[in-house]
Amino acid sequence: MSVSEDVDALRRRAVDALTTARERTALLTSCVDEPELTAQHSPLMSPLVWDLAHIGNQEEQWLLRTVGGREAVRPEIDSVYDAFEHPRALRPTLPLLAPAEARAYASDIRGRVMDILGGSPLRGGPLLDAGFAFGMIAQHEQQHDETMLITHQLRRGPAALTAPEPPAPDPADTADLPGEILVPAGQFTMGTSAEPWALDNERPAHHRLVPAFHLDTVPVTNGDYLRFIEDGGYTDERWWAPEGWAQIREHSIAAPLFWRREAGQWLRRRFGVVEPVPADEPVLHVSWYEADAYARWAGRRLPTEEEWEKAARHDPATGRSRRHPWGDEDPTPEHANLGQRHLRPAPAGSYPLGASPLGVRQLIGDVWEWTSSDFLPYPGFVAFPYREYSEVFFGGAHKVLRGGSFAVDQVACRGTFRNWDLPVRRQIFAGFRTARSAGDV
Ligand code: AVJ
Ligand code: FE
Repeated sequence: MSVSEDVDALRRRAVDALTTARERTALLTSCVDEPELTAQHSPLMSPLVWDLAHIGNQEEQWLLRTVGGREAVRPEIDSVYDAFEHPRALRPTLPLLAPAEARAYASDIRGRVMDILGGSPLRGGPLLDAGFAFGMIAQHEQQHDETMLITHQLRRGPAALTAPEPPAPDPADTADLPGEILVPAGQFTMGTSAEPWALDNERPAHHRLVPAFHLDTVPVTNGDYLRFIEDGGYTDERWWAPEGWAQIREHSIAAPLFWRREAGQWLRRRFGVVEPVPADEPVLHVSWYEADAYARWAGRRLPTEEEWEKAARHDPATGRSRRHPWGDEDPTPEHANLGQRHLRPAPAGSYPLGASPLGVRQLIGDVWEWTSSDFLPYPGFVAFPYREYSEVFFGGAHKVLRGGSFAVDQVACRGTFRNWDLPVRRQIFAGFRTARSAGDV
């Protein structure tokens, strides 16, 4: 999207983004019955019906009240749906709207918001300019759609969701891909000041000098990771950060989450279906500690966040940073595995059209990639429009993830997009790739 888009094009883009998000929300909250919507499938997650009404409530607060200047529809429920007032584990005990009521509420708010959007000039301040607030709320809903998909993955019982299998690697050149790619030393532009719907933590654009390094061409696969397991990786303290070692001891962790070994074969549970672990797929459901241990075992390390972004965005031919590895155009299904079109990552080496200028593949989509970096503000960061989106999470507790997963919609995924989580987390759709500094063998 460009800053010069006319107001009708911007409005269509906002309507599209909000509508796409709502279709996904509707699917994720209609494919299970009422008891499953109100149940807590894991203490790590909210009941699905909390996400549903929280989506509507955020939209009411930002688009209806703040942008639209309208009177509150249901101010009495704000506190129930305030993520900071109630930890996820306790949300089932709250006086939640029942499923039918939550659906009606979210749809009532959406109707009023479409009205506001239809009459908005989409300029006149940072919330309105280029429809930022509408884009922010579409991204918020899509982020919760990924969260709800995680809840579906944690849920026990028969499968509720289906999707086409991923495309085969195309072209058949994956066997010939180099294992790693050299990213030469030099300055690049990190972050953005121009992307209209970029969130506060992606801003502002600034220069970074990145020493030369090598980055895996594709994410680490299940087959790669199995070699770490079979080499005794989980029983050798040498590979582990102390907190990671403590976690795998305490919880008897010896494989990625959702894996089990049966009759000599590794199986995994994926959205209610048990299947053999496919060797050529990027590994999923590993913690930052597991990724870090694997990298050390392999004689390598996780990339820093700036290395990841330089590999994804820097175009050596022009010296500028792209929106995406393939260029500035929005993703198509040929570029990346996004948007819950497939409920799994595509085999490593897929999406040649999505490769970066230097040939790194699958940076966008498939699996979130753990980086070695703590979640910190960029120089010149300004919290906008609320401190609780990013600022309160800055510091040493959270690690940065980049690139998005198969579960992320394109509106909430780009070369500058930053996600973060605690290094112990394994339920998220996260994998990783490894790096080494140039000169290290
Ligand atoms: C950016 C994915 C870490 O889910 O906690 C949703 C996104 N912020 N509602 C989260 C978010 C507020 C956030 N992450
Ligand atoms: Fe939220």
